[in-house]
Amino acid sequence: MPSARAKCIGILTSGGDCPGLNAAIRGVCKPAMSDFHIEVIGIEKGFRGLVENHSRVLHLQDVTGILSSGGTILGTSREKPYKMPLPNGETIDMTPRAVETYNRLGLDCLVVLGGNGTHKVAYNLTKHGLNVIGLPKTIDNDLAETDVTFGFNSAVTTAAEAIDRLYSTAEAHLRVMVIELMGHNAGWLALTAGLAGGADVILLPEIPYDIDSISQHLTERRRRGKWFSIIAVAEGALPKSMDGNKKVGKKKDKKDEKRNREDDAGGRVSIGVAKAISERLGMDTRVTVLGHLQRGGVPTPYDRVLATRFGTFAAEMLVEGKYNQMVCLKGADVTSAPLDKVAGRTKLVPLDHPLIRSARRVGTNFGD
Ligand code: F6P
Repeated sequence: MPSARAKCIGILTSGGDCPGLNAAIRGVCKPAMSDFHIEVIGIEKGFRGLVENHSRVLHLQDVTGILSSGGTILGTSREKPYKMPLPNGETIDMTPRAVETYNRLGLDCLVVLGGNGTHKVAYNLTKHGLNVIGLPKTIDNDLAETDVTFGFNSAVTTAAEAIDRLYSTAEAHLRVMVIELMGHNAGWLALTAGLAGGADVILLPEIPYDIDSISQHLTERRRRGKWFSIIAVAEGALPKSMDGNKKVGKKKDKKDEKRNREDDAGGRVSIGVAKAISERLGMDTRVTVLGHLQRGGVPTPYDRVLATRFGTFAAEMLVEGKYNQMVCLKGADVTSAPLDKVAGRTKLVPLDHPLIRSARRVGTNFGD
């Protein structure tokens, strides 16, 4: 006789997608269904699906064969229940509808796979009485309380490969190649991929750059016979003239800075940097904005393993009733942290981070 249903949970993916989401869904669902007799309801299109009740019961066959696939079988969106967009451009708080769906489906817990925005929503929902478990995903690696998010390693791999490819053509044409990488307001992706790809200059949101310092560095390289260079720029990097000593990540500052940047460089930091280099040094420059290529495709083995570890750990937390936590990696261990310690916090690159130290030791310029 089949055992009685122990619990019923909902699962959704929210925010920008990243490689490893399906591996994590599989990691939660397989043990939940097979070992713990938990019914799993898949909620589609992120929190919009929770507000509008787009849901379906998931079965084992839905979550097999998806370990290595990119994207998410559940779909995703960036919408937040407390700020749902209306056709007239205004927003409305639909949290009561999200709570209603949770209750109507008879959920014991909602498992959310997402980044900073998602965990802010998750924490907010706990204040409305929902039980929530979060799994940290993002190519930006900017979630507090976890050493690493899944998706990051895959994006680093793609970005480092792109830098390798730019390297050979830069050398052939004696050009300065500026590559703009994602990462939102944090520099983890540009720093790690830049170090892996041997970028000569790495520009991060955490270190406001001075174009004079970059020019000097490239001039010095030329003096040593290196007439080509690679500059890896995080999309959130800012010149000292715009950022000054302001705190990185403040919303109003960011908006002003973006507006300023749009005036002279089409809103892209990479374009501004390339233009300044070619004007000052008369060097031939080219810009590559790697964009969503960093988010697509299959997860690396590292991300498949991390996402599986996070997912299976979350399944065990469901059995224990350990709710309102985000699963995280601390050193070699998977553990969890309370959602209130994660929500609304961004993990930036510390200026004394070992990767920055190593990069400086091998001669990388940070524009400071
Ligand atoms: O948070 C992931 C991320 O890829 C950021 O690095 C980037 O700034 C943003 O999402 C892009 O978002 P969208 O896909 O909505 O353009």
